[in-house]
Formats: sequence, C-alpha cells, structure tokens
Amino acid sequence: MLGSLVTPSFYFLVSLLVSAFASSLPRPVSTRLATHGRHIQQRNVRVQPYFPRSNYYTYGSNGVPHHARSLERPLHEDALEFVRKTTGIENGNLGYHSGYDDEHSSYAYIKLFHNGLPFVNSVANIAYKQERVVSFGHSFIDLKTAIFPSSVPTVDWSPLIPTLTEDLGARFKDKPQGPYLAWFAMDNGGVALVHVIQFQDLDKAVWLEAYVDAHSGKVISATNFVSDASYTATGFRTQPPLSGPTLETFTDPANLTVSLSGWHTSATTGTAGNNAVVFFDSDTLANETSPVLNFNTKYDPSQPVDSPNNIEAAITNVFYVANMVHDFSYRYGFTEQAFNFQHDNFGKGGMAGDEIHIQIGNTTELNNAHFQTGPDGETGTAQFFYFDRTGSLRDSSMDNSVVIHELTHGISNRMTGGGSARCLQATEAQGLSEGWSDMMADWMFQTSGTTVDMPMGIYLVGGTQGIRMHPYSTNTAVNPTTYAWLSGLEEEHQFGEVWANMLHGVYADLVATRGYSGDALINPNGSGGNTMFMHLMMDGWALQPCNPTFITARDAMIQADENRYNGINRCLLWKAFARRGLGYNATEVYVDDSHVPADCPNGYTP
Ligand SMILES: *[C@@H]1O[C@H](CO)[C@@H](O)[C@H](O)[C@H]1NC(C)=O
Ligand SMILES: *[C@@H]1O[C@H](CO)[C@@H](O)[C@H](O)[C@H]1NC(C)=O
Ligand SMILES: *[C@@H]1O[C@H](CO)[C@@H](O)[C@H](O)[C@H]1NC(C)=O
Ligand SMILES: *[C@@H]1O[C@H](CO)[C@@H](O)[C@H](O)[C@H]1NC(C)=O
Ligand SMILES: *[C@@H]1O[C@H](CO)[C@@H](O)[C@H](O)[C@H]1NC(C)=O
Ligand SMILES: [Zn+2]
Repeated sequence: MLGSLVTPSFYFLVSLLVSAFASSLPRPVSTRLATHGRHIQQRNVRVQPYFPRSNYYTYGSNGVPHHARSLERPLHEDALEFVRKTTGIENGNLGYHSGYDDEHSSYAYIKLFHNGLPFVNSVANIAYKQERVVSFGHSFIDLKTAIFPSSVPTVDWSPLIPTLTEDLGARFKDKPQGPYLAWFAMDNGGVALVHVIQFQDLDKAVWLEAYVDAHSGKVISATNFVSDASYTATGFRTQPPLSGPTLETFTDPANLTVSLSGWHTSATTGTAGNNAVVFFDSDTLANETSPVLNFNTKYDPSQPVDSPNNIEAAITNVFYVANMVHDFSYRYGFTEQAFNFQHDNFGKGGMAGDEIHIQIGNTTELNNAHFQTGPDGETGTAQFFYFDRTGSLRDSSMDNSVVIHELTHGISNRMTGGGSARCLQATEAQGLSEGWSDMMADWMFQTSGTTVDMPMGIYLVGGTQGIRMHPYSTNTAVNPTTYAWLSGLEEEHQFGEVWANMLHGVYADLVATRGYSGDALINPNGSGGNTMFMHLMMDGWALQPCNPTFITARDAMIQADENRYNGINRCLLWKAFARRGLGYNATEVYVDDSHVPADCPNGYTP
C-alpha cells in the first residue's frame, strides 16, 4: 500500500515516491524548450503554448511495488485511486479524461480540477502492464499554493467572437468542442480562468484552440492543431555552390506582419497563395500540395531535373523564395500602396488580383529565366528554365541568385514610375534593372560585415566565374568595369553588370562605414550600412524618373539618402560612384569622371 507515503506536502511527496519506488531516476525537464511551444503568430495575436513542467517516472518491468490493479476493477477507478494516493490530491480535484486497455498495457489520462472546472494544461498519465503501474507522469501544479481568480467569468465569450475572428484570422468553430470554461496554468506561476474556443480556417491550414482569459477577454495562449508549415529549400541567403544545392528546412517562415493572410491562401493548401503561385510547365503535374503545409521533398541532383521528386523540390524552393522576397521587400517599402504583387490587398491601397505566377520546367528555352511585370493589378509572371552549360541540365529555379534576380525585376519595375511597369524600358534603364536584380541577390548573400566578392549563378554554369563577365568586387583586378565601359557595350545585362558593380562598391563602403545589421532581413530600421543600402536602392526606385539613366539613378539614390537619413551618406555615395567613373562631372556621354562635390572632405583620389 502507498498510504504511508501520503503527506500534506505535495512536492515532498513526489520526492518520496521517487526514492521509495523509482527503479529509474526521475528525468526532470528543465529547459524552456520542454515547457514552451513555438510561438503561434496569427494576424493580431502572438502567443506561446505553455505546459507546466512534467514529472515523469518509469518503473521498469516490475512496476510500482505495493500497488496492483485488480484486473476486474475498472481502469478509471484504479487510475484515479493511484493518482490520489501518490499525490495526495483529493478525489474532487481529479477527473478521468480517457483511457483504454490494449493487449499488453492499459493507459489512463487524468485531469486536474478546481471548483469543478478542469485545467487545460495540467494533466497526468498512468500506464499499466497488466496489473502493475509501469509509468506515471504529471504536470500538476500545486493546488495548495496556486492563487485562483474567481471561477465566475466577468467576460462572456460570445461578444468576443468578432474580434477574435479578426485577430486570429480564422472562423469560430462552434462544434463539437464548443466554448467551455477551464483553468490555464501560466508560466508565471499564476492561473487564469479561460474560455476554450476553437478557430478554424482549413484553407489557410489554421486550426487553433484559443485560451481566452474570462476576466480580461485577451487570448493568453493557444494550441495549434496543424503541424508547422515547413519548406526544404536552398538557403534564402545563399546560392548553391558548384556541387549543387545545399538544402535546409525552414519552419513557419511566413511573417504575418507583412503577409497578412500567410503564404498559403488557396483552397488547395498547395504552393499557391496570396503572394505567389508556383506550378510546373503547363501544370500537368499539380502544384505541390500538403494539407499540413509540410513541403519537404529533398532535391536530388543525381536524379533528372524533371523527375517528380525534383519538380516538387524546385517548386517548393521557388515558392519559398518568392514569399521571402515578398515579405522582405514589403518591410523596405514594396507594400500594397507601392504597387506590390498580392492577390488580396486587404484594403490597404493599390490594385489587388496580381500575385506572381511562376512557372518552372518549361523546356522551350534553355539557359535563361524571365520575369514579366504588368502594371499594378495584373499578375506578374516568372519562368525559370533549365541550363545545359555543364553538359547535363541544371534547374535555374534551384539557384537563388537567379530566383531573387527575377523577382527583383518585378519590384524595380513596379516601384519606378508608380506601378505602370512602363518605366524601365530604355536600354540603359533596362540595364539598371538588370543591375538592381543582381545587386539584390548580392545583398542577400552578404551575410556578415565583411563584404565578399559575389559571382552570380556559379552552380548553373559550373564555374566560379558565374554567368556574368566578372564577379562583383571592390577589387579592380577582379572587376575592372567603370562607367566608360558602357560605350563599348550593347546588351542590357552587360550594362547591368557595370551598374551592379557600382552598387556593390556603394554597399561595401556603407557597411565599412556604418557597420552591418545582422537582422536587416526582418528589421528595416537598423543602423547598419546594409540596411541603409537597401532603403537607398528601393527609395531610389520610387524617387527616380521614368526610364532613368545611370546618372539619374545615382542622383535618386543620393536624394533618397537626403530624404531618409538627412544626407549623412552623401559624400560616401559620391565617392563610391566616382571611384567607378560616375563622378560629379560625368555626363550622359559615357566618359569616366572621378570628381565629387567640392564640399565633400577628402575628395576622391584615384
Ligand atoms: C515579422 O516582421 C516584423 C516586421 O517586419 C518584425 O518586427 C518581426 O520581428 C517579424 N517576426 C518574426 C517572427 O520574424
Ligand atoms: C513555355 O515558355 C514559352 C516561352 O516563354 C511560352 O511561349 C509557352 O507558352 C510556355 N509553355 C507553357 C506550357 O506555358
Ligand atoms: C496550381 O496552380 C495553377 C495556376 O494558378 C492553379 O490554377 C491550380 O489550381 C493549382 N493546382 C493545385 C493543385 O494547386
Ligand atoms: C520600423 O519603423 C517604422 C516607423 O517608425 C515602424 O512603423 C516599424 O514598426 C518599425 N519596424 C520594425 C521591424 O521595427
Ligand atoms: C568638376 O566638378 C568639380 C566639383 O567637384 C568642379 O569644381 C569642377 O569645376 C568640375 N570640373 C570640370 C572640368 O567640369
Ligand atoms: Zn534580368
């Protein structure tokens, strides 16, 4: 019998239980990882699941001595008695939740109660092998020391539903576990009286049980009934090495501050959402779908590019990158009002109905990728083709230098000229557009304060030189291009290389002078030179004239610095441009000039 162990002190009792009976040592769980879940971020609510620390004891094959269940006795009776005797908790504070007997074992699940209401997160479980208890776990809080609010709600649940529906971005689910009152043990040691209410929107893979404080009306925690969305993709901020894509899995990357309805809003929960829809060729193969948003097919370079496995993996990668670019650029100003690409604009301005449609696996072209930007309100279209430069096919949709490049065309085209998408048409302007697109990829791949040389698309062509004439570099031996080079060039990508390399130099000087903000991807307010650069580049798009030139694009960036940073980088910018021939006295004739304004100290010296 266990009777002699029952004492008034609950925790003391547990330790006695351990020393008396445990055939294996207790394994207390001490980290937050064990008690706190991943944050649940909904439209206006961010909460964390919490479970009081679990104590768990196992008793090997012999089971707890001195306690044997008569196999004729109902499971629930014996389990409740075991818990009562073991913990000293009164019968009135324990309730049987569920249990069953299988061939070898029996399992019982017990809930803690107070004033007739159950706890949602303070529970116990007992397992039997035949008549013996072989394990006992519980997360019971100490009822003797807990401080309870009134068990009579002061806030009813029904008037809260409209607000909760809005804040949680999902519909009230009335049945079958309709709202009920319960206790929630909080991680600060307190206890809250909560309405337990479910919300669901399967189209968005949302299914939550919210715990709404019945005295304040606030959501204090929730349970997520849907597995986390995850995407196995090539790192957003890396391009594949020569050997092929390196894969990572990203869990719940969607940020609901900037993608209000998440990344998946289609009824198919496939790679289709408010920002982008990704499909294979003429969509003979369905877009990858996953009801629980787990897109984890691994790209396998040993298989053909168009194997079903690799098609799925490539679709996922492009979908992931397109949404990352949406969320990133949104923070830096490519919002609904600034003519971005979204199916639903949530009433925030701009024209809706223009998410990006992205096709992979089209074999009518090789060694290329496109982005077609219509005006605001018309869907953008991107296509990623295969490359055959290495003797076998490589998929450009698996090389993020190319994916980011294409998506950036959409942004610069929309932001220049107020969403008309007509303002980067002249060759020089097209060249600038190519340059910005390369620079965006370059920016993404610079992941520390040391600015490194950046080639583009090395995986696709199987060479460290990449797909351009030179890697981007501040070293003139690595990249010798200057403004005057334009006089000998004709093709917009070559113009683009000259521009991107100037921007690379501007970026490097900004980072060298202002430092590097490690959180620039999600925080547009940092003081690092990399953060500043992105604002100057994107503000420059909004500022510059229709069909800008190198000179007017430069001037727009310098103006952007004036507007946003009161011109603190003005001379830095001039010097960086002047170093590559786009100095103060440069004209539309492509001749290098290395002057900076006379008031800039330490003027540029070649
Ligand atoms: C989501 O984005 C916002 C603003 O862009 C940022 O403040 C926040 O930290 C992001 N959240 C996560 C979880 O990254
Ligand atoms: C493949 O790409 C070509 C060239 O852009 C286009 O004309 C064709 O319609 C595409 N094929 C499909 C099935 O979309
Ligand atoms: C795939 O994308 C296409 C293009 O928008 C869409 O029409 C189709 O419904 C999607 N298919 C699936 C299975 O999601
Ligand atoms: C950045 O600053 C703006 C304007 O002050 C603010 O609205 C925004 O929330 C800030 N974003 C972050 C991620 O701190
Ligand atoms: C070039 O610009 C500087 C300002 O830095 C100015 O003083 C100078 O007169 C200009 N030189 C020529 C040749 O135009
Ligand atoms: Zn391009």
